[in-house]
Amino acid sequence: MNVFKLAYQALMSPCVEEKITFTHQLYDLSINHRLNYQLQYPIHSISDPGRPDRPNLVRFQSVPKRDKSNIGMIKTIHAICHIEFNAINLALDGIYRFQKMADKFYQNWIQVAFEETQHFGLINKYLNELGYQYGDFDAHNGLWRMAHETDYDVLARMALVPRVLEARGLDVTPSIQKKFLNSDFQPMADILTVIFNDEIKHVKIGNYWFHTLCLEKKLDPLSTFDQFVKKHIGKQLHGPFNIEARRLADFSKTELDYLQRH
Ligand SMILES: [Fe+2]
Repeated sequence: MNVFKLAYQALMSPCVEEKITFTHQLYDLSINHRLNYQLQYPIHSISDPGRPDRPNLVRFQSVPKRDKSNIGMIKTIHAICHIEFNAINLALDGIYRFQKMADKFYQNWIQVAFEETQHFGLINKYLNELGYQYGDFDAHNGLWRMAHETDYDVLARMALVPRVLEARGLDVTPSIQKKFLNSDFQPMADILTVIFNDEIKHVKIGNYWFHTLCLEKKLDPLSTFDQFVKKHIGKQLHGPFNIEARRLADFSKTELDYLQRH
């Protein structure tokens, strides 16, 4: 089976169950060394990956502010479920799109896509136990934007998706977890522990590939990162940063100093 074809099929599937099945198939083939990395597959720019009709996607600003009431907490759980759904697509898109990388790149991101299906599954199962499911609330459509914007260059993608968007998750998860611990939704705190530990690994993979590519291209990682941040985000990155988690994810001291300086 061709890795790019299978990743594209999973990425574009509008059915959640099918997307998960295709991703698991990709993972099984990967760990059993039965994937073909050679064949080139047509690369399209994707403004909208496969997703179900619901949730209804709205502009970021129009999602009602979530509060600490029960329904507010459930909406927060749903929002995290949506992030995990997007994370599956983000990993699949990186596999499908950047077809000239070493085999290890695909093996790494297939592992990430697989773990994102597990995160999504854990949260959706918990939503079901609460009497809800993925799609029951509006969700914001900003998450795919950075994937779409960085589809021209694997270096830009590695700089901004794992190292900015996913790393932001490491910064904010502990405080969200604390809110769940002090609520009627304590199982969510346990789910977040699983997610947090996996996300450290995912950011670490992003850091590895960003630095490997910089080395290959003889680019200075810090100034290259700074240029991508200026180009695509246009403003400084916001803290506070979870320095300990970022260190575990292999951000260097120079990079952590850069973040805290800005
Ligand atoms: Fe995740």
